[in-house]
Amino acid sequence: MSDRNVILPKIGSQSYVFDGGSSMDSNHASSWHQRLTAKQLNNRRLVRIWLYSILVVLIAIVMVGGATRMTGSGLSITEWKPIHGVIPPLNHLEWLEEFEKYKQIPQYEQINHGMSLGEFQYIFWWEWAHRMLARFVGFLVALPLIYFWFSGRLERQLKPKMIGILVLGGLQGAIGWWMVASGLSVLTHVSQYRLAIHLTMACIIITAVFYVARGLANYTDKPAIRSVQKLAGWLVFAVLVQIYLGGLVAGLHAGLTYNSWPLMDGAVVPSGLFIQNPWWINLFENPKTVQFVHRMFAYTVLILALVNVFYCARNAPSSTHYRRSVVLAGLVFIQAAIGIVTLLLMVPLFWGLLHQGFALVVLVFCVANWRATKGAYQASNS
Ligand code: HEM
Repeated sequence: MSDRNVILPKIGSQSYVFDGGSSMDSNHASSWHQRLTAKQLNNRRLVRIWLYSILVVLIAIVMVGGATRMTGSGLSITEWKPIHGVIPPLNHLEWLEEFEKYKQIPQYEQINHGMSLGEFQYIFWWEWAHRMLARFVGFLVALPLIYFWFSGRLERQLKPKMIGILVLGGLQGAIGWWMVASGLSVLTHVSQYRLAIHLTMACIIITAVFYVARGLANYTDKPAIRSVQKLAGWLVFAVLVQIYLGGLVAGLHAGLTYNSWPLMDGAVVPSGLFIQNPWWINLFENPKTVQFVHRMFAYTVLILALVNVFYCARNAPSSTHYRRSVVLAGLVFIQAAIGIVTLLLMVPLFWGLLHQGFALVVLVFCVANWRATKGAYQASNS
């Protein structure tokens, strides 16, 4: 081993190699990684590509789900048939049958009464596409998993993680149906509780997939100290909470009222936030309170992102961790600005989708940041 390829002392439980650059200072390292064989590196690259492709499809599912919700299409398929449901109506008679089932639910009676078959088909295709993509991603996880597992390309430590992701995916399918079911008998829309859980679970799955993928990446900088790692983890948690709160806003259509900023109902803290009993129910069912909490928590996430910048500037100056913290704060700022425009314009489809899509950009970057502060997984056998 040349003196430009030196094994450095252990950082946490991992040992790292520095190869390249003229300084032992990690901040100037041109390459900083663990000692992996060419085969291990190649396997990690393949698994990473697979996980990234899953991520792309997951993001597409969330976006199509958002469009499904915003076009009022989410209740157009009134049954859950995981296998049979793949085939859409194929002829006029089958379309009439499907339409007939939709006519039985309160949403048709109270909101879409008199809708034409063509209009029904429009809302049907959104929901069908959402369900199809969800089934497809199930295969995209399961089939390559079998291949990587049995070809010995999957490190042992990744196996329980991938099984966990598969289980979360199955659970998410069930939550999706549980959500749709809430809008079929009495309500004309789905429960905001279930919608928010469905959205948050999707984001937890995205977090898990991307976290594992980035754990297999090569890093040019050494892992950060523990407190920087922890702060990065808290930021991911805060963004997930904010996404959950956004789901409640969307589910209650709370973005269609109080369309002013920075004041809400003429005040920074509007009155009537806790008029329902018991008080905590307002946090979930009072549109005013739900929107207020989403706004306030957005400011909290922004402050946390700024604290992260200052903390990294002090504890990891001129490192990639610091540079990422700046980008992350910028992304949160842009997301808050998009949220404000969405609110002021009373949630047009484009801005609603942009706000939802950019939330995923923030989340994914936040997860990348968190994983990078910890560095790659230590190599293990298959
Ligand atoms: C860190 C910042 C923020 C994040 C991560 C975030 C995230 C989200 C998410 C995930 C949704 C649900 C979207 C959907 O399911 O369609 C949402 C909804 C919403 N957010 Fe935000 N948000 C942020 C800041 C803001 C701010 C500052 C405002 C306005 C003051 C705002 C206003 C709204 C509105 C009006 C909706 C409802 C949109 C709809 O009905 O489709 N958000 N937010």
